Amino acid sequence: MCGIVGYVGNSSRPAGAGHGALDVVLEGLRRLEYRGYDSAGVAVVADGAISSRKKAGKLGNLLGELEARPLPESLTGIGHTRWATHGGPTDGNAHPHLADGGRLAVIHNGIIENFAELKQQLLAKGVEFSSETDTEVAAALLGDIFRNQLGGDSSKGSLTEAMQLACQRLEGAFTLLAVHADQPGVVVAARRNSPLVVGLGEGENFLGSDVSGFIDYTRRAVELGQDQIVTITADSVEITDFFGAPAEGKEYNVDWDPASAEKGGFNSFMEKEIHDQPDAVAQTLLGRSDLNGKLTLDELRIDPELLKQVDKIIVLACGTAAYAGLVAKYAIENWCRIPTEVELAHEFRYRDPIVDANTLVVSISQSGETMDTLMAVRYAREQGAKTISICNTNGSTIPRESDAVLYTHAGPEIAVASTKAFLAQITAAYLLGLYLAQLRGNIFTGQIKDVLADLSKIPAKIQKILDNSGPLRELARSMKDEKSVLFLGRHVGFPVALEGALKLKEIAYIHAEGFAAGELKHGPIALIDEGQPVFVVVPSPRGRDSLHSKVVSNIQEVRARGARTLVIAEEGDEAVRDYAEHVFYVPETPTLLMPLLTTVPLQIFAAELAGAKGYDVDQPRNLAKSVTVE
Ligand code: M6R
Repeated sequence: MCGIVGYVGNSSRPAGAGHGALDVVLEGLRRLEYRGYDSAGVAVVADGAISSRKKAGKLGNLLGELEARPLPESLTGIGHTRWATHGGPTDGNAHPHLADGGRLAVIHNGIIENFAELKQQLLAKGVEFSSETDTEVAAALLGDIFRNQLGGDSSKGSLTEAMQLACQRLEGAFTLLAVHADQPGVVVAARRNSPLVVGLGEGENFLGSDVSGFIDYTRRAVELGQDQIVTITADSVEITDFFGAPAEGKEYNVDWDPASAEKGGFNSFMEKEIHDQPDAVAQTLLGRSDLNGKLTLDELRIDPELLKQVDKIIVLACGTAAYAGLVAKYAIENWCRIPTEVELAHEFRYRDPIVDANTLVVSISQSGETMDTLMAVRYAREQGAKTISICNTNGSTIPRESDAVLYTHAGPEIAVASTKAFLAQITAAYLLGLYLAQLRGNIFTGQIKDVLADLSKIPAKIQKILDNSGPLRELARSMKDEKSVLFLGRHVGFPVALEGALKLKEIAYIHAEGFAAGELKHGPIALIDEGQPVFVVVPSPRGRDSLHSKVVSNIQEVRARGARTLVIAEEGDEAVRDYAEHVFYVPETPTLLMPLLTTVPLQIFAAELAGAKGYDVDQPRNLAKSVTVE
């Protein structure tokens, strides 16, 4: 939550390549806006002073403000796009916040938990506050230390030293960036349990919440550790801990190009990302098995002997990623015969879970920064569990703090509603399940080879669904005034139903619920009234027959009570036709792999319907892409 950018250069960039600090910072904010869009603001250091602008609402509002009231040319700047925690989304609560008589500007992501106590101390010293934010308290603390404790010394290191002293007093999770008028050409940043990466340029350096903050300018990035402070100038990057001891970051190259984070001719990132899915699955499969069908997940780097001893798997994740975990459970238990639990990460550590050295914890996260998931992984490690992260974001915190990582290669996912990351997470979970089964000898190599062959056909099948989505889109548009849509599924179709409902809720603001079809008669069927739309994800008739016929019975049951039945079924399943108002067919595929196909029509439905309502499908209200606070 919240996007943060910092920049220092030593000469103006060539025209057209982001001219001064402001251009670079605004371009970074444009790319990071998916992290929060309640307000945006910038500050630059120029002519011995701080100049800043900030505005409630999306980045466009700030751009309008900058046009009306331009900022001076500068080579040092910071920028922020906000997801509100403390204080509503107003101009006054927007970042940057100023302190030290307007000579210091601070932006912040996270929550300062002891802000009330610090505020009292600062009020007692006569400091005045104009916002309701915890950020303004952090800024005031930093300003007070810089001016009163360090005597306003403007030597190069003093802002860094002030940041170190401030961080020693801050509790909670935060990324802070600061610039001071007395130290032009310097941005100082700190991180604790909140994301921050450094971008390395030639005669310029960058800071970002993630690499998209500077991907237009450099692919060289540095990962920072927890509780570190980084000071950038145009020519240097210096890292310390909160007590001033020198520290090192880990340099890496960003392997995606900026074009992959553009809309590519689609109306929205979400639509583009839905269309990226054949590639996201193909890339996630790439290079992970040999021609004989042997899985080669060398990157896992956990002693295979330890993995053989695992007697329980716990999958931890939130939201869509947790639904990928539910699919993983069906596959892993089927192939590996290891009991597998799936738990929402925010519930996990508060219930005294039973975890030991033979427990394998698999976390799933697109961003790798979800605070709930990170905290759950830390807890599991403390209890002695082995931890594997399935993650889409290179260099992010969760994989860094896990024993091993299996990266999904979906490319950057910008739309808040997760689509391609979900399919890539499921794909990676299948690979992990097959790998464990291979290692432990649960299934024959031939079977693994068959599943891999089936997986390799998935991208073309997704493409077929995308190419034939016209009638589904038409239906979605016609349903834009619906008040409620229900989703039913069974076996691996159950998490698909949950995901279909979540997509509709989050981008179309329509009440939507997903149910296990077998649960209908235990309560939810009471919701069915004349005209109630119900999506039903039907299992293959070729798999477990009993399940297919049971779900067909469920369709009849809701239809008999007036529901409009919208059915997702496998090609060739004629049995559903008589009971469905609309049938959307997906290509034949083995039951366990079906979610990679049946999810796609539900994503398309939600995106099309939300678009027809005139909503911004990429930036739905109240949400942010990465939930980096608990
Ligand atoms: O980055 P993560 O995968 O850890 O995010 C988890 C959830 O916040 C995320 O999947 C969320 O539910 C999406 N907005 C759903 O579309």
